[in-house]
Amino acid sequence: SPSDPDLVERARAAKEKLGDKVFVLGHHYQRDEVIQFADVTGDSFKLARDAAARPEAEYIVFCGVHFMAESADILTSGDQKVVLPDLAAGCSMADMATAEQVAECWDVLTEAGIAEQVVPVSYMNSSADIKAFTGRHGGTICTSSNAERALEWAFEQGEKVLFLPDQHLGRNTAVRDMGMSLDDCVVYNPHKPNGGLSTDELRAAKMILWRGHCSVHGRFSLESVDDVRARIPGVNVLVHPECRHEVVAAADYVGSTEYIIKALEAAPAGSKWAIGTELNLVRRLANRFAPEGKEIVFLDRTVCFCSTMNRIDLPHLVWALESLAEGNLVNRIEVDEETEAFAKLALERMLALP
Ligand code: 13P
Ligand code: SF4
Repeated sequence: SPSDPDLVERARAAKEKLGDKVFVLGHHYQRDEVIQFADVTGDSFKLARDAAARPEAEYIVFCGVHFMAESADILTSGDQKVVLPDLAAGCSMADMATAEQVAECWDVLTEAGIAEQVVPVSYMNSSADIKAFTGRHGGTICTSSNAERALEWAFEQGEKVLFLPDQHLGRNTAVRDMGMSLDDCVVYNPHKPNGGLSTDELRAAKMILWRGHCSVHGRFSLESVDDVRARIPGVNVLVHPECRHEVVAAADYVGSTEYIIKALEAAPAGSKWAIGTELNLVRRLANRFAPEGKEIVFLDRTVCFCSTMNRIDLPHLVWALESLAEGNLVNRIEVDEETEAFAKLALERMLALP
């Protein structure tokens, strides 16, 4: 939808007044009306790196979700302030693993006598607490663009991996990219005693997958893939690795948001694509590449936007920028020092992956 010209002008004026003091980061799932004001756009990995590369900006306005703003705060210097334009922009997947649940899980692994063999690997889409747990126990963070390298690294450090909180990214990477079998994976359910697993199951597993998922990507199904193939002969199916295993197995290409964009940039004119990821991004890509003769459709028309990514809209961005321009620091995201120290360890292990 076209953005309100008055709000566009206000955002522009506030940004101009702030000048180099502000740096605006925008995740690829953000609305067009917001993305137009981003100084850089990217996937989770790129945005984490870009946030750390702007030491001169006093304010980092993060147009994305809460865990991304936390990660930016962890990776930037103490004087820099990270602002999330709407504090309600969380992530349902990140909420599926709490610090208490993960501590309890570690007790279960300790009881089973395997904790010493286990290396935690946590997806970026997790709270700072979970990242700190990961750092404390010798593990690393990963994103959808480096999950395979993170797992390879982890299996050099230990025999088993506890993968948090997205079971699908964990399973897809282990099975599709690393040749493990589905039987090497078990799912730990934090709502059941002992995670719903026997000691024997825990001891036999190579990948212990946390029972979390993305509420958006989890809705694409094998039927979505079959339907689009029937509807559009010759279509290339390209999905995000947060999709369920059977969807990823049926797709032609799998990758992060940045990968999806690059794949479409490289696609020949006349090619047809069905994309299984968040709708704001798919629409933007469909519009961008239509003039080049690339036909891009959303993998399943019954799936909707990520509601929390969409919380950041132009009115919230204008409010945040105007507040900062008037000297009012609003919606700051600040991780406490102890959590930050351990979470940073885990994030830096990721940034150092080969
Ligand atoms: P990437 O941009 O890293 O692929 O992440 C997707 C996502 O779900 C972020 O919330
Ligand atoms: Fe979380 Fe999924 Fe939304 Fe990403 S798309 S922010 S993983 S709910």
